[in-house]
Amino acid sequence: MFQIFRASRDLLPEVVDILNSNAPLFESIVIDPANSDEVNVTLEWAQENFETREFYVIRDEGSNVGFATYQNLEKFAYVGFLFIDYGKHGKGYGSALVNYLLWRTKLDNLPALRLFVNKKANWALDFYRKLEFTILSENKEEILAMDNGIMEPFFIDNHVYMEKRISQ
Ligand SMILES: CC(C)(COP(=O)(O)OP(=O)(O)OC[C@H]1O[C@@H](n2cnc3c(N)ncnc32)[C@H](O)[C@@H]1OP(=O)(O)O)[C@@H](O)C(=O)NCCC(=O)NCCS
Repeated sequence: MFQIFRASRDLLPEVVDILNSNAPLFESIVIDPANSDEVNVTLEWAQENFETREFYVIRDEGSNVGFATYQNLEKFAYVGFLFIDYGKHGKGYGSALVNYLLWRTKLDNLPALRLFVNKKANWALDFYRKLEFTILSENKEEILAMDNGIMEPFFIDNHVYMEKRISQ
């Protein structure tokens, strides 16, 4: 049986390993050179992000098998990163984490959970479609014009902006 909990700082080395384990998956798609460090992150990267994002870890049988980050951006909630250990995909861990973050969003009384997905990561697009996320926009100008430019610090080129509405 798995559990999901908010990660403490001492779990960040494992978070980094989980994220980087997915490098083989991303090699199959051309990564924008500007984001070439997408699946090659460091402990410093994790520590920096830990200052502004809530990190949640999913643990099964004593092993940490995935993580996601959550931020309350006041108008909606935002998932910056969601990674399951490369050898452990397809076991329901990713869906469990997303469902947890949807519950977390509802707890914050926010109307939607939003995120960016790499346009070429068909597996991730399929995953979020299955969880009933819909595309808000694929257009940079349009995305940056939304909500008084709130996504400016988060925007990533060649990514699709998706959301799932929360039923209150
Ligand atoms: C995307 C990711 C988080 C999915 O997590 P997961 O634990 O493997 O997914 P689940 O087992 O919960 O799958 C739920 C559904 O998503 C879909 N799905 C999952 N992986 C898929 C894949 N590789 N190809 C197509 N559909 C997929 C399936 O419909 C699946 O439902 P099913 O098992 O009933 O067929 C995981 O594959 C991952 O960490 N990938 C690398 C990082 C990444 O791409 N993150 C998100 C992009 S920002």
